[in-house]
Amino acid sequence: MTNIASRDRRVAPRAVAVIGAGYVGLPTAATLAHFGHRVVLAERDPGRLEALRAGRMPIVEAGLAELVADGVVAGNLRFEGSAVDAARGAEFVFLCVATPQGDDGSADLSYVEQAAKEIGPQLARGAVVVNKSTVPVGSATLVEQVIGRPDISVVSNPEFLREGSAVSDSLHPDRIIVGADDPKAAADVGALFSGTGAPLIVTDATTSETIKYASNAFLATKLSFVNALAGLCEEVGADVRDVLLGLGYDKRIGFEFLQPGPGWGGSCLPKDTRALLHIAQKAGYDFSLLAGAIASNEQQLARVVAKVETACGGSVQGVTVSVWGLTFKANTDDRRDSPALEVARRLVTLGATVRAFDPTVAAVEGDAVPADLAGLDICSDPYEAATGAAAVAVLTEWDEFRWLDLARLARLMATPRIVDARNLLDPAAVRRIGFEYDAIGRQ
Ligand code: UDX
Repeated sequence: MTNIASRDRRVAPRAVAVIGAGYVGLPTAATLAHFGHRVVLAERDPGRLEALRAGRMPIVEAGLAELVADGVVAGNLRFEGSAVDAARGAEFVFLCVATPQGDDGSADLSYVEQAAKEIGPQLARGAVVVNKSTVPVGSATLVEQVIGRPDISVVSNPEFLREGSAVSDSLHPDRIIVGADDPKAAADVGALFSGTGAPLIVTDATTSETIKYASNAFLATKLSFVNALAGLCEEVGADVRDVLLGLGYDKRIGFEFLQPGPGWGGSCLPKDTRALLHIAQKAGYDFSLLAGAIASNEQQLARVVAKVETACGGSVQGVTVSVWGLTFKANTDDRRDSPALEVARRLVTLGATVRAFDPTVAAVEGDAVPADLAGLDICSDPYEAATGAAAVAVLTEWDEFRWLDLARLARLMATPRIVDARNLLDPAAVRRIGFEYDAIGRQ
């Protein structure tokens, strides 16, 4: 059943436990505390728990430290090391534990099952367990089975937080989705967020879980279309920026999520698109459109690598290449499934010496280089990274890359060539200074 509840902003303070202080759990706990609920956040990692208690954030998110501090000062937010202790006495328990991608593309639910098993016997009578992490369709039933108590309802309440804007996305969500076979439990979870004033959709658990995957799969498909369109623009001589401007004014398309790049990455879109494809395959449904979007994303990565090879005369074997940006997008320090990092790695595999700069990565050498950056020379600024390079590849859209001294850059490089995989720079300005310039979907 689906209905849109009224925008009731009155909030009756409830006792809430949140299990897991990661990218989802921490903003969720701080947001619920902000709206007046009494929240206990459980984090089993001792170092992370100590940092939280000292007011230090384990993740980079604008406004998060302030929101957490407000909750702590107001007495609405405290931290526990044990999920069981946090869940004891709670009316609602949000599961915000990791659901990593399994080898076959499906979501690994072992952390969810473990948390449910731990807290199940300790839950107060009639408590509601909430699946906040992205979980496969059918997971609410699984959690109910693991807990095995008829008085406990499980509600799906997927998150739609973007890294780098998790706080604003939490406080001002476009919508709240709740799904359960027990409509009252679903509505009660929805009421926790009534302070946001966002539209509330109450449905069943399967539908709610599907909405989450469908949202990310659609966003990924939109980006794959944009990147493929950029490839067409290069072949027909069109400028993708103006093409997308022409598309974006159509309200049904909009300007959001319409920027070409090296491909979509991060800890969610790649994982969730593969998980949804796996779900479809298990259900016997041929979701070839989604398979195509995933394949197209792989082609985009290869296209950017090929552009760098072309800029270096056809091969990067024995060539020094500079890459600017290693995170999966700007305004985050997250490098999980980062297209920028994947392009850098492929260039190393092709025989290039890669000098990398990212504002969130300290310039280190030897054993101090983080494991996921092995094989890259990490530099302290874009100019150092470009020194002696045959080409610079702009891979993450950090704003500082827009405002560099390009004349100085040209002098530092072996040959002044730029592959701008984020269409960050002005082609005419760059070429006036003597650079060879290639971008995505531009002439
Ligand atoms: C995404 C969804 O947006 C969010 O709703 C969900 O809860 C989690 O997954 P996130 O992974 O933080 O959020 O990243 P997002 O901002 O969506 O970007 C995903 C990828 O698309 C990044 O690699 C980004 O660089 C790329 N992207 C995004 C583009 O290439 N062009 C764009 O216009 C937007």
